[in-house]
Amino acid sequence: MVTNDTTLENIHSGLNISTEKALEETVLSPRFYTTDFEAMDKIKIDSVRTEWDKLMKEFEVDSNIDHFQRPSNMMQDYSNLEPSLYKEFTDFLISSITSEFSGCVLYAEIKKKVKNTEMKKLFGYMARDESRHAGFINQWLKDFNIGVDLGFLVKAKKYTFFQPKFIFYATYLSEKIGYARYISIFRQVEKKPELRFHPIFLWFERWCNDEFRHGEAFALLMRSDPKLLKGVNLWWIRFFQLAVFATMFVRDHQRPIMHKAMDMNPTDYDLQVFKITTEISKQVFPVLLDVENPKFINLLTTLNKTSIKIDNTKKTGFVNKYFFGSLLKIKVLIIFLRLFFMRPVKNPLPENMRVKPTW
Ligand SMILES: [Fe+2]
Ligand SMILES: [Fe+2]
Repeated sequence: MVTNDTTLENIHSGLNISTEKALEETVLSPRFYTTDFEAMDKIKIDSVRTEWDKLMKEFEVDSNIDHFQRPSNMMQDYSNLEPSLYKEFTDFLISSITSEFSGCVLYAEIKKKVKNTEMKKLFGYMARDESRHAGFINQWLKDFNIGVDLGFLVKAKKYTFFQPKFIFYATYLSEKIGYARYISIFRQVEKKPELRFHPIFLWFERWCNDEFRHGEAFALLMRSDPKLLKGVNLWWIRFFQLAVFATMFVRDHQRPIMHKAMDMNPTDYDLQVFKITTEISKQVFPVLLDVENPKFINLLTTLNKTSIKIDNTKKTGFVNKYFFGSLLKIKVLIIFLRLFFMRPVKNPLPENMRVKPTW
């Protein structure tokens, strides 16, 4: 992970647009993470042993081993989409491949660095799955001549350090939200096949079961260590739920044309994803966000509108950019805090820690 800035700068000039996009470091763009491997060595899963062994068997079966293959009749040119749809769709694919690859890099790194055999095994399975997911999206991007240079990304993208518990909260949520997003899109194009403007959506059903299973592993890891689910950590759990949901809401609203093409209203779609994710999260989080409260979506809508205004000030003159831009950023913070302090829903943890992907 040690990089030489001058070399990277030279290489940067030769990068394609999608690799540049995947490298972006904004508040909303997917990140790469690293963690404390020695702390991960100390994890003991004895208290959830029965469930753990069952889950490891599921990983071992590798039910998606043959799934990420493209039949020869799908090697056609799908790039002749309407230009604004093409732009939003490729943006969606690039953001998805960055998230998939971020998981792959983190899981592979954990597998390599830990000595704990249970962790080595789990993270090996999950790195296997994520590398398939990222590789599969890249095949479609390469059809458009905009494949992401994943090898370069590993070296050049910045890494954010998180303690294992924060990795668990954040990654659990991104796996489960990934499941909820993919399955909601799949169900929509299953119902209305005429809206399926690209074949990749056909893969989403079996694909999202991988994400679901990854989430199950993090649920067991958290439930094996009860202190992660009480005291001050309850505030962290609320924070991560909100951060993940708010980021998704703002990003999805940046792709109105793609949602329209699938006859989905981004606000309704996001609310559905929040509800599914929150329902699943009952397996592990003792506090949940009140996503069904209309105030929650109203505040997110205001947050999104304010974030659009901030983007607009960036295109204007100095005074607008810095003066009004700063005021708007304060407004975003206030809305975020109002969301954060909304009364949460208390959730007594169920005895059965596992959930089935039935959506
Ligand atoms: Fe994945
Ligand atoms: Fe995953």
